[in-house]
Amino acid sequence: MTTALSCTRITKSLGSKPVLKALDLDVAPSEVVWLLWASGSGKTTLLRLIAGLMRPDAGRILLDGRGIWSPLWCPPERRRIGMVFRDCALWPSMTVEGNLAFGLRAQKLAAAEARARRDHALEVARPALMLFNEPVSNLAAALCEDLRTEMMDLVRHGGSPLPTSPTTWPRRWPCRTVSP
Ligand SMILES: Nc1ncnc2c1ncn2[C@@H]1O[C@H](COP(=O)(O)OP(=O)(O)OP(=O)(O)O)[C@@H](O)[C@H]1O
Ligand SMILES: [Mg+2]
Repeated sequence: MTTALSCTRITKSLGSKPVLKALDLDVAPSEVVWLLWASGSGKTTLLRLIAGLMRPDAGRILLDGRGIWSPLWCPPERRRIGMVFRDCALWPSMTVEGNLAFGLRAQKLAAAEARARRDHALEVARPALMLFNEPVSNLAAALCEDLRTEMMDLVRHGGSPLPTSPTTWPRRWPCRTVSP
């Protein structure tokens, strides 16, 4: 079976510090895999490598059986990977549409142009893989439940979420956990 994500012998140093050493990780289609690694062990680094925000020193990354790193480099915007950062620079009181429109308004675009760009952004295909960097660390319990609903909806539509947290995860969530 083709895996949604396959990381093989991923190695990365930051400065002089070896962070990831020949790491292997496979995620099956529609599988939720929760990375439970201690603080400072390289969770964010791994997500950034998968998303294409930095390059591994060695190893291979396949998405849906297709190489996105080594020997080929696939740029982040063509990987169909979504990433939710730990420090969300979003307005929680606004809808997705409101958040998108805010940035467009700041550019002082004509209304029709801003609408067209917003609609284009909203139409972008669902990602094949979603990376969540510590998604529940700053969330109230009620919002956690909303997030779980969204994540399972993503799974039903064929995506594979890959969340991280240092030591715990919401135990009612159906997922496979991976420890170092
Ligand atoms: N630019 C950098 N230069 C040198 N070392 C770095 C750099 N960025 C991160 N590190 C170190 O690399 C290690 C892994 O960092 P990373 O942020 O991936 O860990 P993490 O598991 O996400 O940690 P946390 O749970 O605190 O978010 C840490 O020890 C960190 O101090
Ligand atoms: Mg981190």
